[in-house]
Parts: sequence; structure tokens; C-alpha cells
Amino acid sequence: MRTQVGIVGAGPAGLLLGALLHKAGIESIIVERQSGEYVLSRIRAGILEEIAVQALVSAGVGERLLKEGIRHEHLSLSFAGQLHTVDLPKLTGGKTVTAYGQTEVTKDLMDHRAACGLPTVYEAKDVSLHDLTSAQPLIRYVKDGVAQEIRCDFIAGCDGFHGVSRQSIPAEKRQEFLREYPFGWLGVLADVPPVSPHAIIYGNSPEGFSLCSMRSMTRSRYYVQCPLSDKVEDWSDERFWDELRLRLPAHVAQDIITGPSIEKSIAPLRSFVSEPMRWGQLFLAGDAAHIVPPTGAKGLNLAASDVTMLSEALIQHYAEKRNDGIDGYSQRALRKIWRTERFSWCLTNLDSRTQRGTKLVAC
Ligand code: FAD
Ligand code: DHB
Repeated sequence: MRTQVGIVGAGPAGLLLGALLHKAGIESIIVERQSGEYVLSRIRAGILEEIAVQALVSAGVGERLLKEGIRHEHLSLSFAGQLHTVDLPKLTGGKTVTAYGQTEVTKDLMDHRAACGLPTVYEAKDVSLHDLTSAQPLIRYVKDGVAQEIRCDFIAGCDGFHGVSRQSIPAEKRQEFLREYPFGWLGVLADVPPVSPHAIIYGNSPEGFSLCSMRSMTRSRYYVQCPLSDKVEDWSDERFWDELRLRLPAHVAQDIITGPSIEKSIAPLRSFVSEPMRWGQLFLAGDAAHIVPPTGAKGLNLAASDVTMLSEALIQHYAEKRNDGIDGYSQRALRKIWRTERFSWCLTNLDSRTQRGTKLVAC
């Protein structure tokens, strides 16, 4: 097979890049290790910033998001029993955030790709990248026991933290920066109305961090900081709700409506950046190149920012026969990534406690 841009990974970064390129008349084939059902079953981010909303709208995939997403003009921070409200448009020159789950984003992008008849190979095994510094790099994989290959002009590595793309850059050409945090986040999804329909609440308390978020007016997402050694089985629903209420101001806690969890998981927190984001004809985007702790709800938004920049660079290459966009991609993307890493680290420090109850370093 042959295509212009071979995309590795059908998470939000890969699917969104494919949609943006298709809009500009550029061909792509996506190769994904998992099944489509598996990709859709992963419960992750939920808060979209304008960069992600704009990218989805300009790719022609924003219809349901604009109808069903819940726009927020406020965030609340709770400290010492008090709620402090942050007016987002006032502080950011008019920007807002939108509650719309990553699952819904992925579903919209998958439906759009299928409706446009764009090729996606799910359940591709043993994906490997070759000839990356040549003009015709190659993706190899095995599908249903048969070896396949795709010749491309470019390869976009959108295969997340555990993918093959970053590892395909020679180790001596990569510089990696990693910070692991000594606690995790226990997240619960439940079909109950959100405690605050108007805002997301980030909570600091002596017991540790908490977060109240939402997916819709009938589906809520809540988190509490927990020791990394905890297992999901250690946390009954009852224990989770009790702990959440304990970490919020009394007037907020009393309004929480509880119900059975429909998903419960513990995520480790890490900050990670790999530089550069280009090697020959391979370009990394999203979690393949960087991870932020989920505290600032930045991971998905940063992935949208990367693929917006990468799509602009590739469109410039094909439409204008200019390469300054692709030559500058890594540096341009990394400038924003490091700012976002700092913000997410700072917010994590502000909200969280070490396991001994002491504050982390100030930022
Ligand atoms: P991914 O979503 O990881 O997608 C990569 C895709 O590549 C996957 O479908 C994977 O199966 C595929 N792949 C991997 N290896 C290969 C291979 N070898 N060959 C082919 N395909 C491959 N962000 C927030 O903003 N808020 C949150 O609350 C939040 N919670 C999170 C919870 C968890 C448990 C995790 C892991 C992440 C969370 N994030 C959160 C981060 C956010 O979900 C990610 O930043 C976002 O998914 C990045 O999208 P991506 O497409 O770059 O990577
Ligand atoms: C959500 C996740 C976050 O990491 C965050 O900071 C805010 C909201 C969420 O899952 O809705």
C-alpha cells in the first residue's frame, strides 16, 4: 500500500490529524494496535479547551460537540473550606472550556472517518517503522496473520506513551525528561447530576486533592488523590463518596448526589517530554512525545495543539511546496509543551499532598 501520511495510533491525536488532513485533500492511513471498541472503552479526559474545540470544528467534526458539550465560564478552587471562583473569559480574553468526554470526541472522529471512507486498520500487530530518514518511510504490521506494509511520504507517530514511534528514534538522538509523582488519582464515573452544573471544582484539603467534573447534566466525573499502592478493589463506592465529601467545603459536600460507579480506575501521575519531536520523516504528536499529570486537564488539549501545528505544516508542504512548517514543527510544538508542563506541575503541587500529609514544593 501507499499513502501520503501514515498515522500510527487511532487515539484522539491520530484521528484528529487524519480528519484535518482529509479536509485539506491529503491522504492518510491509520494503523491502530487495538480494536475500535477497545479504543472507545477507555475513560480519560473530559475538559476541552478552545484549541481542541476549534480543531474539531475546523475538521468538520464539531456538530455534536457544539450541541451537547457544556461550556463553562468558571472554575472553582477550594482551599481551607472556602470556594474561590475563577472567571475564565475575564482572565483569558474571552476563552471558555467545554465539558465533552474524550470517548465522545473519539466516537465522533471514528464515525466521521468511516463516513468519509478513510482507511483505518484496527488490531494491527507488530507495528514497526523503517527507513525514517529516507524520502519514503515504511510502516510494517501484521493483520490477521498476514504481513503488510505501507510506503508513505511522512509518518505521524500518534501512538501514545507506550507506542513504537518514539522508540524508533535512535536513543542517542533523543533527550527524555521524566518526573513521577508519589501518588495516584482515583477516578469515578457515575450517572448522577454534577454537584456544580456551572463549574469544575479543584479541591485542596489536608486529606489530599479532589476534583469534581462532569460529562453531562446526568453524568459526573470525580477524582480523589490516593496512594500509588492502592488498588481499585480497596475503594468501595461508599468509601470513595465519603472521602470525596471529606475533602470539599461542607456546603459543597452536602450537595453531592451519589450513586453506583460505572467506571473506577487509578491513574499514576507523571510529567514527561521527549525531544526532538521529529526524526527524518517521522513526526511525534500527543502522548507519544509528552505526558502531563492530569491535574490541569491538559493532555488531550496538548495533543490537539500538536496535531493542529503538524497538519498546518503538512498542508503547507503539499499546497505551497514549502518546508519551513515541517522544519520548525518540533521547536514550535515544544515551546507550548514546556509551558503546559510547567502549568500542570504547578497545579499538581498546589492541590496535592504527599502521603505523609506534607505539602509538595511551592511553584
Ligand atoms: P492515546 O490516547 O494514548 O492514543 C494512542 C493510540 O495509539 C491508542 O489507541 C493506542 O492503542 C495506539 N497504539 C499504541 N501503541 C501502538 C502501536 N505500537 N501501534 C499502533 N497503535 C498503537 N487528560 C486529560 O486532559 N484529562 C484527564 O482526565 C485525563 N485522564 C487520563 C487518564 C489515563 C488513565 C490516561 C492514560 C490519560 C489521561 N489523560 C487525561 C490524558 C489524555 O487522555 C491523553 O493526553 C490523550 O489520550 C492523548 O491522546 P493521544 O492520541 O496522543 O494518545
Ligand atoms: C477532568 C479531568 C481533569 O484532569 C481535570 O483537570 C478536569 C476534569 C475530567 O475528567 O473531567
